[in-house]
Amino acid sequence: MSSSPVNTASPSFPVRRMDYDFADMPKYWCDNEPSLTHYFTGLSTLFPEGESYFVRSVRALRPGVKKHSQLDRDIGAFIGQEAMHSKEHHAFHISAQQYNLDPESLEKVTGTILKSIETLFPKKWNLLVTVGLEHYTAVLVATMMRSTYKEMRDDTIRNLWLWHSIEETEHKAVAYDLYQHLYGKGLDAYLPRVMVYTFSLAMITLMSTLYHLVLMKRDGQLFNLKSWRRFITFAADHYKEFIPDFLAYYRFNFHPNDTDASALVANAKAVIGLASRSSKGRESSAA
Ligand SMILES: [Fe+2]
Ligand SMILES: [Fe+2]
Repeated sequence: MSSSPVNTASPSFPVRRMDYDFADMPKYWCDNEPSLTHYFTGLSTLFPEGESYFVRSVRALRPGVKKHSQLDRDIGAFIGQEAMHSKEHHAFHISAQQYNLDPESLEKVTGTILKSIETLFPKKWNLLVTVGLEHYTAVLVATMMRSTYKEMRDDTIRNLWLWHSIEETEHKAVAYDLYQHLYGKGLDAYLPRVMVYTFSLAMITLMSTLYHLVLMKRDGQLFNLKSWRRFITFAADHYKEFIPDFLAYYRFNFHPNDTDASALVANAKAVIGLASRSSKGRESSAA
């Protein structure tokens, strides 16, 4: 890869500047199905505000890390990657507006909810929401890179999801490592970690389900039972994989790098041509 670390002052993973053009997106870009397309659009509307919240939660506690240490550099790259994900998913929502789905309204709801949580929670708990949801994301993107991307009928949208999946895997341990660095590995670190994770899982499941329903309604597909059946089959298949992986977070000695997804990442890079710099988005190293 062009942006691999070149000296000891580099982060463990690169920040890639992407600039996808979604103008020609089809209406039902996931398996030609409203239910699958709107499920993923609903998830996507969580990202711009959600990932900004992750960045703020990590940045708020970054002063507890030695400047220019490896963790500090990786936090910088984490912030860069998440900021780019927010930007590209927002661009995707602007293009999805051509089908009158108004995804931006769901971004705003997400922002309002997360800003309320941010105000109510102490910094430690806000970081734990991020740590927990980074694990949730890492589980989802493994399945995306393994099989789900094949359902995506538009190359640009497929590339968006695979690029995002690759980077979520690259930085999946950063927030967790920051938490361990600040609060250790004892029972007093474990208990809030799993408590806030349980809250975060419930919150994101509720929000993504509601957004899915809202988008189906806006598209006049709420009672398309044939399409809902396709989604239920899809979800049932994948939740068999997700549940044990979600539960792994409750292990006392859990660490995100317990799971090696490097083969999935290598394949995803080959699919979108990232290694050869021929993907539809542009890749370059960032500061
Ligand atoms: Fe992200
Ligand atoms: Fe992330």
